[in-house]
Amino acid sequence: VAPEVRELLVSRIRDVPDYPKPGVKFKDITPLLADPKAFSTLTETLADACVEFGATKVVGLEARGFILAAPAAVRAGIGFIPVRKAGKLPGATLAESYELEYGSAEIEIHAEDLAEDDRVLVIDDVLATGGTAEASLQLIRQAGAQVVGVAVLLELGFLDGRSRLAPTLGAAPLEAL
Ligand code: PRP
Repeated sequence: VAPEVRELLVSRIRDVPDYPKPGVKFKDITPLLADPKAFSTLTETLADACVEFGATKVVGLEARGFILAAPAAVRAGIGFIPVRKAGKLPGATLAESYELEYGSAEIEIHAEDLAEDDRVLVIDDVLATGGTAEASLQLIRQAGAQVVGVAVLLELGFLDGRSRLAPTLGAAPLEAL
């Protein structure tokens, strides 16, 4: 990403102290979404990544990942597939569970949405512990498709999701601002 693009996008992300609980600094992307120049620049950047990686599908992660992934897919001229929290998709699904700080979570994808020859770019807003992204990659692999990369707006480096994701990601790149 060009420095001036990064500067524009970063300037539109708001740090919210002590949200959702004391001691946590929340990264709020709503100012970026409300700024048409910043949002379209981000969309263009993500669509360029789709083209660069030769993606045939974009997978977006619920919920904030949808907001970034869907316009990027449209702009790149390829399909968008939602990965949803369990129980939200009406068709036949593939499912993966993963551990959270307290308890566990489950995410699903419609099995029929991916073909074995699909090349998938995964898009989300934030990579934190990497648990959500890791489970998403496993879903895509379960479907028999190939992951060509993961693109996130923000990476919370101190949680080191990158290391957690590395074995699952293999040679595919992880792109962050
Ligand atoms: C956030 C974020 C990522 C995920 C990152 O989503 O949007 O999807 O957490 O965390 P991880 O790397 O530790 O797995 P959240 O579950 O808060 O859902 P939302 O987008 O629906 O608010």
